[in-house]
Parts: sequence; C-alpha cells; structure tokens
Amino acid sequence: SKKYRPFPQVPLPDRQWPTRTITSAPRWLSTDLRDGNQAIVDPMDAVKKNRFFDLLVEVGVKEIEVGFPSAGATEFDFIHKLVNSGRVPDDVIVQVLTQSREDLIRTSFTSLEGARAAIVHLYNAVSPAWRDIVFRMSKEEVREIAVAGAKVMRDEAAKQPGTEWHFQYSPETFSTAELDFSISVCEAVMEVLTPTPERPIILNLPATVEAATPNIYADQIEYFCRNLPGRDSAVISLHTHNDRGTGVAAAELGLMAGADRIEGCLFGNGERTGNCCLVTLALNMYTQGIDPGLDFSDIDRVIETVEYCNQIPVHQRHPYGGELVFTAFSGSHQDAIKKGFAAHEAQNDPQWRVPYLPVDPADLGRSYEAVIRVNSQSGKGGFAWVLEQDQGLKLPKRLQADFSRHVQAVADSQSRELDAGDIWDVFRKAYYIQV
Ligand code: KIV
Ligand code: ZN
Repeated sequence: SKKYRPFPQVPLPDRQWPTRTITSAPRWLSTDLRDGNQAIVDPMDAVKKNRFFDLLVEVGVKEIEVGFPSAGATEFDFIHKLVNSGRVPDDVIVQVLTQSREDLIRTSFTSLEGARAAIVHLYNAVSPAWRDIVFRMSKEEVREIAVAGAKVMRDEAAKQPGTEWHFQYSPETFSTAELDFSISVCEAVMEVLTPTPERPIILNLPATVEAATPNIYADQIEYFCRNLPGRDSAVISLHTHNDRGTGVAAAELGLMAGADRIEGCLFGNGERTGNCCLVTLALNMYTQGIDPGLDFSDIDRVIETVEYCNQIPVHQRHPYGGELVFTAFSGSHQDAIKKGFAAHEAQNDPQWRVPYLPVDPADLGRSYEAVIRVNSQSGKGGFAWVLEQDQGLKLPKRLQADFSRHVQAVADSQSRELDAGDIWDVFRKAYYIQV
C-alpha cells in the first residue's frame, strides 16, 4: 500500500495579481543550449549548437544561455569560439551558467574572454530539502555560498574590463524554499554586486521542480517583488519547469504577478518534462493582441531545426506548432471552419473569429488547405472544400452529398486519411472523368 506523500508546503502571502493582465512582452531568455541541451540523450555538437543559436537569433531572442563552460572541454570550447566568432549580433547577449565555486566561476569567465558583453549566471539551491539532505548545511552556510560566489564574480569581471558584464543570480529551488530566506540570500548577493536601476542584477526565480499549482508560484513571485529591498535595481526573471504540466501557466501568472523576464526553451525542451515553452507563451500573447517580439511566422522551419538539433519530435498536438493542431477531421468542425473562412474573407474581419481555430494558420506560415483533412469521420463539406482548394472545382450542394458517399466508401475501406490527390481520384472514378 502506497502512502500519499505531498510536497512540503511553504507559508503563502496575500495576493493581488489576479486583477492584472499581461500587457506587454517580457524579456525572453532561451536556455535551449543549456537546460535544453543538458536534458537530451545526445547533447548537441558544435554544428547543431551553432544552428540552434542562429535560429534563436532569427526568431528574435535577445538573451541566449549558451552553456555551462565549466562542465567540460566541449562546452568551454564551443562558448569560447562562439563569442569570438562574430556570430553574436550586437543586440544579442550570451549567458553562461556556473555553480558557486571559485574554480568553476573563474573557468566560466575565461571561456568568455573576448566577448563584447555577457551575462554570468550564478546559482545555488536554497530550499530545506537541499539544505538538509544534499548539502547538510545551515541557512547561514547556504547564504554564504551565494555571497562567496558573488564576490568571485565581481573580482573576475573587474579583470576583464573590455567586456560589458551583467550578473544573474538564481536561488535554485526557489519555489520550494521559504520566501524570506530566498529574499535574504538575494539581498546579500546584491550587497556584493551593487546593482543600480541603470545596471540591474537579474534575479531568476526557478520552479526547479514544479511542485504546486501555478497560482502559488505567482503568489511567491508577487511576494518576492513586493518585499525585495532594492527591487528597482533587479530584473525579476522566471524559470519554470513543467513537472505538473503547468510550466507555461505558471510563467503567465508569474508575469501578471510582477516579473519582467522569462527563461525557457522552444517547444518546452528541458530537464524531465521540460522548461516553459517559449513558443506557446509567445503565441498565447500574440492571440491576445500583444506583440511578443518573437517571430514564429514560419513555424515549420523552426520545428525542422529544433527537431534536428534536439533529435526529439515536436508532438503532433503541441500548441500552435503540432502537425495536427490546425486540422479538423470531423464533419461538423469542417463545416464550421469552412463557414468561418468564408465570412472572414468576405468581411475582412479585423478580429480572428474562425470557429475551432485559435489563430490564423497563415500567421504561422501554415496554409489553409492543410486545415481541413479528410478521413472516414469527415463530412461532405470537408470533401467539397478539399476538392475546391485543390482543383478549383465548386460542387453544387446536391452533388456534394452523392460525392461524399463515394469518398466515405474509399476512406472506410482503406482506414486512412485521404489527401487531395486521393479525393480527386475518387471524383474522377465516380464520375468517369478522363484527364
Ligand atoms: O531549474 C533550475 O533551477 C535551473 C537553475 C540552474 C536556474 O535550471
Ligand atoms: Zn531549469
């Protein structure tokens, strides 16, 4: 018999965030080349990393975590070559991750020699389970790890004045830690690094393992923002994981609660169940009328590169990108979509009101023809639509019913989806048309 063992609860503050909405795009950081890469079976080689990096630049991501330089020679060499390659545009900044250990921090700075600008991202875990079980350390000792790391960062940065340095600190396991303790650690790090509103520190607040409903995470973000001394000198960044399947929702509510920046991966790659999916979050904003500042107007090209680099297929039902998300097989859906498109075109509607489709597929570079696909569950409207799109043949209503019987018979007998060519074949055979 199994015992029910919940995650330990942390005390929760009052909340105000539900009254807010997201009104503008956050700063985006892609950690595809770090959190994403560390979670795949065959980590990317330099060719794949460069290809992914170029894709991120094309999509419009301005902050890119490119690796963990102290993890080994492959990571170090890639980062060192990248920052000296001329590949990093002037408006893009690279970020590297380091544990809070003097030798590792020094190695990270060495990997960045020659960089125009860079963010060095320091982290250590702060929650009770890690303190008690992993490190066997008191709160003071854990705080001291962060402070000691911040001092090394400050001193290493001073040795390379030719680079524009930015600092990021993550109290890893933030969402399962006591809020006031996390704030005290961040405050101590800020005392060392002396950020200002003009040169802020990035404080990244991870749900390292997603352990509660997304509103709880948002409450924690709101409390942190309200109670951090020197909030004006900090950029509040969110780093959600998807263990409960709500990584995107947690990031959205966290933005409403006052955060400025999001870390995540394209199509939600990342440790275990993945990081927050940047594509989903950005396109959720897009469908609410907010320009996310990221360009997914050729989503198939993005998918192709991501699948090649990660060697993980994007799920057919992945929001916005999946192969099946803009398709309808059922007759009633096809009929409604067909009417929706006709009305949309006739009225030049400034809003998107096509039933069953959350966004215009054309905005993502998908074609209308791909929207309606035909199998044995489809109705006559769907068959007629495909024939019209493919052959320019507009069937009269009465012929549609008859034609539909022919298509259904073939679809039933073959138990498979029929493409436009199959449907044209059925039409020719049914009505003895020679071409
Ligand atoms: O999930 C996590 O906590 C991390 C940190 C290193 C930011 O990836
Ligand atoms: Zn992570």
